[in-house]
Amino acid sequence: MDMAAYRQDFPTMRAGKGVYLDSACQALRPDSVIAAVNEYYTQCPACGERSVHWMSNMVSVRVDEAREALCRFFDGADPSSFIFTRNTTEGLNTVAFGSGLKKGDAVVTGDAEHNSNYVPWLTLRDSVGLKIRLSRSGPSGIFDLESLKAAMNHDVKLVAIGQCSNVTGCVVPIKDIAEIAHDWGARILVDGAQGAPHLATDLKKWDIDYYAASLHKMCGPSGMGFLYGKPECLRDLRPLLVGGGTVGLVTYDHVDFAPSPDRFEAGLQDYAGIFGTKAALDYLTKVGMDNIAAHDADLMHYLFETTRKVKDLVMVGPDEPAHRCGVFSFNIKGMGAHDVAMMLDSIDGIMVRSGMHCAHPFHVARGIEGSVRASVYLYNNHEDIDRFAAALKKVAATFGD
Ligand code: ALA
Repeated sequence: MDMAAYRQDFPTMRAGKGVYLDSACQALRPDSVIAAVNEYYTQCPACGERSVHWMSNMVSVRVDEAREALCRFFDGADPSSFIFTRNTTEGLNTVAFGSGLKKGDAVVTGDAEHNSNYVPWLTLRDSVGLKIRLSRSGPSGIFDLESLKAAMNHDVKLVAIGQCSNVTGCVVPIKDIAEIAHDWGARILVDGAQGAPHLATDLKKWDIDYYAASLHKMCGPSGMGFLYGKPECLRDLRPLLVGGGTVGLVTYDHVDFAPSPDRFEAGLQDYAGIFGTKAALDYLTKVGMDNIAAHDADLMHYLFETTRKVKDLVMVGPDEPAHRCGVFSFNIKGMGAHDVAMMLDSIDGIMVRSGMHCAHPFHVARGIEGSVRASVYLYNNHEDIDRFAAALKKVAATFGD
């Protein structure tokens, strides 16, 4: 596998603009995605699925093609089971607020989720009396199926779980979790924000009811995501937004809602983002998800090896590269996470994320104010890691405990 050539597809990499290690937040975009977004604006900047002129038809065809590409990429039930959203958060909210959850119902979620997989449940707890139970991971963050089983009961309507933690990088056993959820008559909602960019995902084989992810973590345009639902699950789901595009016929006193996906896509859509979505999926398919996973693993091993001797480094998450799906979170004893991140940036243009990574409960529960996170993707190489490790050694030696 030679990933070096792919690096050249990314404009900021070609231009040598620093060391980008913040892909868990947003991935860089290759030329083909940028060209697809441009193509929309320069060739057919019209509204899809409404007007009957050629330009609108061109957009409609491309929207259908992007949906088909999503279905192929994630092996879903049917293209109409994929709804375009702005991000994973919108997908999770759609399921949370559209499922008719009521007082006495329970949701089970993990203890290392990002905020978007807590806030909707906490809001429903306060508004309707939803019960929330946590499946607790082991001390280093590895998922514990026994804890999940202990949290299950007949009141559980939904198991809402992240495919992979954006802090520890631990991957959860989705297929097993789906089986347990279904045994209890519950549905499974997977937050694929961190998993989808790194892991080949098979929604049919894993028997997933709902799956939400963000294209901007997958080399796609900013503010693009999707929600998948099995056809029977989407039939039961109320849309978060209603209005033009979601309906069959509307009279002064009646509305006929359209079937999925239209029912969930209110108003004009982000057509440029949809063009870019298809280009991003084509790109990842060309690179190969198995190659991406192998490359991630190689970079993680190298990160562990090169930082092993950094003074005062404390890992957040398992001290084992095999358990980290593209993310390496840590602290330097005696230093604040933001200070470490700013110094890495100023020493050698190294871009990492610092703070709680939108995963507040995880950090609060462990009594840590935050962490520094270096996250890698298909365009990173050993030289990036060498520069990161060299700068980190300097920071730790100068300012650590
Ligand atoms: N969930 C995003 C991250 O991990 C925002 O950075």
